[in-house]
Amino acid sequence: MSGFLKQLENEVSSEWETIKSGLFWNIMREEGFNTELYKLLMLQIFHYTKHNAINQAVATYKINHTEVPLLRFCFKHALEELGHENMVVRDLDSIGLYSPEDLASGALPATQALVGYLYHVALELGGLARLGYSYWAESSYGHLAEMTDHMKDDLNLKDNNMTFFVAHSAIDEKHSAEVNDAIEKNVKTDTQKKIVIDVARTTLYMTGVMFNNVAEVYLVNKKKKAVSA
Ligand SMILES: [Fe+2]
Ligand SMILES: [Fe+2]
Repeated sequence: MSGFLKQLENEVSSEWETIKSGLFWNIMREEGFNTELYKLLMLQIFHYTKHNAINQAVATYKINHTEVPLLRFCFKHALEELGHENMVVRDLDSIGLYSPEDLASGALPATQALVGYLYHVALELGGLARLGYSYWAESSYGHLAEMTDHMKDDLNLKDNNMTFFVAHSAIDEKHSAEVNDAIEKNVKTDTQKKIVIDVARTTLYMTGVMFNNVAEVYLVNKKKKAVSA
């Protein structure tokens, strides 16, 4: 692992620590998952994941046509992310938690902000900068293990109820190696390194805000239920 990848991993790890001291993580540690918290989170994951293939393809717009290896990485990776949001639908449906109108409930403000920022990265900063997002997203399963263990234990889920986190992680192991390779080959200057770190930190920070937004909605719904009970 190069010095830069180590630096990137340190930045990402410290951002994960912040997420794990936030509202969502606290609720999960105290209460575990019930179907309501799980469904709220999975629907937000659906709402950002449905944009990933598209904003990865959009990120080629700023890349010069002579940068063939980076362009090839972006096009190939975009194609390989296509439809991954359907794993969320399949997982919810497999335990009877899905109905088509759920998707119309839309993305929470924090999810919309994350998606909007990712299109800004793609359109304004380009494919090299977006590697900062891919870096942590493709290798997030270790950091998410506490959460996915909770899901499995609290809701009694099997691997085939958790394809987004289980089958997906096998695909993403390969993606992560390809992202690391693309970073090592393309991120050379201090300016490029700074922008990749900035995008990694900002996208992960905003993902943490999304987790906490889910927790806020969960608490509001819980309070409403308690009042009407
Ligand atoms: Fe994916
Ligand atoms: Fe992936």
